[in-house]
Amino acid sequence: MHVASMVEYGKHPKKYDKKTAGESTSYRYFFYNSGKIHHVKIGPLQPNTKYYYRCGGHGDEFSFKTPPSKFPIEFAVAGDLGQTDWTLSTLDQMRKRDFDVFLLPGDLSYADTHQPLWDSFGRLLETLASTRPWMVTEGNHEIESFPINDHISCVHTVMLGSYTPYDSHSDQYQWLQADLRKVDRKKTPWLVVVMHMPWYSTNKAHYGEGEKMRNALESLLYRAQVDVVFAGHVHTYERFKPIYNKKADPCGPMYITIGDGGNREGLALRFNKPQSPLSVFRESSFGHGRLRIIDHKRAHWSWHRNNDEMSFIADEVSFESPRASSHCRSNRFRGEI
Ligand SMILES: [Fe+2]
Repeated sequence: MHVASMVEYGKHPKKYDKKTAGESTSYRYFFYNSGKIHHVKIGPLQPNTKYYYRCGGHGDEFSFKTPPSKFPIEFAVAGDLGQTDWTLSTLDQMRKRDFDVFLLPGDLSYADTHQPLWDSFGRLLETLASTRPWMVTEGNHEIESFPINDHISCVHTVMLGSYTPYDSHSDQYQWLQADLRKVDRKKTPWLVVVMHMPWYSTNKAHYGEGEKMRNALESLLYRAQVDVVFAGHVHTYERFKPIYNKKADPCGPMYITIGDGGNREGLALRFNKPQSPLSVFRESSFGHGRLRIIDHKRAHWSWHRNNDEMSFIADEVSFESPRASSHCRSNRFRGEI
């Protein structure tokens, strides 16, 4: 059946006063022929507004809420999702409390070249992905073209590719440097970076894998005064103090591993002992996180461990952007990205 690459949308159910056309592609992978993959870019859209939309000129109506342009704004974060019963319980917990944007630090479908698993993953995520914006980066289970960035008026979010070259001559490095230079922190006070492979982890799984990338890019993020760095890959939850160059540093980003979305490989249960003083909280249970940015300097992070009955907050912290401290603002190493 021919379906047009077209989205009709508007602010009231079943009343579409706008219509945008796009294009479609498809691909073959050995014996797999994909369906049509439609790309339609709609907008401009107003912030904090619910839109109703329909794809292809017929069929089900979906609705979608755009993120607010002002604080507070809440991100839901879950990496290494996969498509297991654990994934379902993570998604159920996420649905229980509203959020504005979903961040996924890589490893989505665990298709691992088995293409029909992308289709089933799309169906699994449809009810969530159709209602809120989401941003993903590549994991080792899907190596594609990245990085990307997005600007949600008050929060600048950068997605980095752990499997894309990152040395100082690479396109990614040059792009990142130019992108960080452009951020006006008076207008966009918060800067969040998302990648797949953690730079800081005390779990035995994948231990040290992120070192090369950390050596290449950490000072760039530090000088740009990044607030929070999210990673996945290690199937656990771990929260660190603000760090720079393997030392606690109040002007550095807070590092969080949130690779416990629910994939088929299970949890990474073994941690190095004794626990590093840089690691504040670590636990290998399935769950998701919430970053609620309250205003230009205050935020709250919580980790919600999956539980059959309710979403259980097992770890939480209120914190301020390093930029709120005059010590970090006057740090002589800052400002030269
Ligand atoms: Fe991974």
